Amino acid sequence: MPILTLDLLKEKLTVWKGCDLSTTANAVLGEGNPRASVMIIGEAPGEKENELRRPFVGAAGKYLNELLESIQLKREDVYISNVVKYCPPDTRDPKPIEKEQCMPWLMLEIALVKPKVIVTLGRHSLGHFFSGITISEAHGNAFPITAAVTLFSVYHPAAALHNGSLRSALQSDFYKLGDFLKTVQ
Ligand code: URA
Repeated sequence: MPILTLDLLKEKLTVWKGCDLSTTANAVLGEGNPRASVMIIGEAPGEKENELRRPFVGAAGKYLNELLESIQLKREDVYISNVVKYCPPDTRDPKPIEKEQCMPWLMLEIALVKPKVIVTLGRHSLGHFFSGITISEAHGNAFPITAAVTLFSVYHPAAALHNGSLRSALQSDFYKLGDFLKTVQ
């Protein structure tokens, strides 16, 4: 039995057919520092991500890179992934069944990377961990998941690209994240 690594996970995901979206889109696993203490989790790949088979490489990804740089984090320092591993048709919201079908892949990525801080981008990613709180209540705040792992909720960069009034809240979420990360050993 080979040892499970992120590379092997990616290979296995490429041939997996367990999600309804796998017939219409390419599989996109996370990428980045395999030992990152910060893991960033988005919703689902978009069209550019589907084309290049990499997470956050389109407009939302460029904006995410800027937000990371604003708190002195580089993309190479973190691990970036998504709840759903395939781009939904017409980039619609992922359905609950699609999130459920893809869940094991994200759980395996978390188990392999072992981040101390999980940054959830937007409501779908937040909802993967907590169901009783809305994104407007949670954003900019830290929530312990276990003794070793804390979730930090921020708005999704794509939401702020579509709705300019969220931009300053998102930037402020990232400044709060930067301050919070200074307290994490
Ligand atoms: N939005 C996401 O949630 N994930 C991506 O990979 C790109 C855009």
